[in-house]
Amino acid sequence: MTDFFDKYDHLAARRAKILEGGVDPFAVPMDRIVSATVAEIDGREVILVGTNNYLGLTFDPECIRAAAESVVTEGTGTTGSRIANGSYSGHRALEQQIASFLGMRTAIVFSTGYQANVGVLAGLAGPKDIILLDADCHASIYDGCQLSGATVIRFRHNSPEDLDKRLNRLKDHDTNKLVVVEGIYSMLGDRAPLGEFAEVKRRHGVSLLVDEAHSLGVFGDGGEGLSWEAGIQDDVDFVVGTFSKSLGAIGGFGASNHPKFDVLRYTTRPYMFTASPSPSSIATVMAALRQIQARPDLRERLWENANHLYHGLSDLGFELCAAMGPIIAVRLPDEEVAVSMWNALLQGGVYVNLALPPGTPNGASLLRCSVSAAHTSDQIRKVCEAFDRARRDFTAWPVAESEPMLRSGCG
Ligand SMILES: Cc1ncc(COP(=O)(O)O)c(C=O)c1O
Repeated sequence: MTDFFDKYDHLAARRAKILEGGVDPFAVPMDRIVSATVAEIDGREVILVGTNNYLGLTFDPECIRAAAESVVTEGTGTTGSRIANGSYSGHRALEQQIASFLGMRTAIVFSTGYQANVGVLAGLAGPKDIILLDADCHASIYDGCQLSGATVIRFRHNSPEDLDKRLNRLKDHDTNKLVVVEGIYSMLGDRAPLGEFAEVKRRHGVSLLVDEAHSLGVFGDGGEGLSWEAGIQDDVDFVVGTFSKSLGAIGGFGASNHPKFDVLRYTTRPYMFTASPSPSSIATVMAALRQIQARPDLRERLWENANHLYHGLSDLGFELCAAMGPIIAVRLPDEEVAVSMWNALLQGGVYVNLALPPGTPNGASLLRCSVSAAHTSDQIRKVCEAFDRARRDFTAWPVAESEPMLRSGCG
């Protein structure tokens, strides 16, 4: 007799091995959220360094006030899609606010960042089109490509040369071609060379989509994203972003200067056939965007903290996967060491993300830290100390302290 679940047996065995370490790293019970950087786990307060809460806005008083007011005035949920149940004034106002924040003509709000990628890609491309995507793109980008039915070509991660080569081979294909990259890559924290990608895009006359999920609020003079920091925003045809990271809520958006972009509202299923974002999510994001614009100090603080943690860990000899930034991924020799280190860190009062293959590039086993503007210097110092202690306790992993293993690009 066959069983649907047989195909997962190898994963169940792998998970059982990981659980031998104590806590389940993929379902950590957060009993109480104390602040943007602290939660209570198993009766103890733990410093959170794995949240994507880059600006620490989840506990911002303005954002909380806006969310609370909207629940009172508009209710807890919209209970349906905008096509069926209508657009609340907040949906439309937020779309205008995002468009004006990015200096783009149109923005469309989706219910999650995942759906924003799936919805924009499946809406833009069809079976006759070609999507060229960076091999390390997020699962939502891969899923959007699949739903679109387009021909998908992967190019080597962060390689404008490889993209150029593949576009050269497609010269005679008279069809729409869309290049998809991210700003910062979520696992290793490395940045796309957007200036070079924009040059290749211009030369080949194709379209460019940038997913700014991890770079919005973090890069650019006004926090618009890495495309703005790189000065190539005019080359970007489509921007996708999420509300679940710097903006501290849930939802996502697609934005574009294309005069026909709005047609996606009537053509893309992940927008049409799901409930629209709740009033509290919308109100939170509107307040968070205002904070990003009014408080450049949040970005400054984020970068100070990133610098502190990055150099703290590299001075201890840890192998870091990318240049200094708010995502700091520590590469471990293998899964067993990563799981042991992860448990030791939690015991030491620090929560980071355990990231294992196939969710990581090139089979890397990572302890992924994400820094927040809300971290104090004292917390960052404690995180470094916890890493040092965890490593010393774990004798199976010999690290030569005199030879820092810092290098750029893991995998
Ligand atoms: C690059 C990227 N795009 C999209 C998403 C999806 O966003 P959300 O979690 O808000 O649905 C993520 C989430 O981690 C991401 O890392």
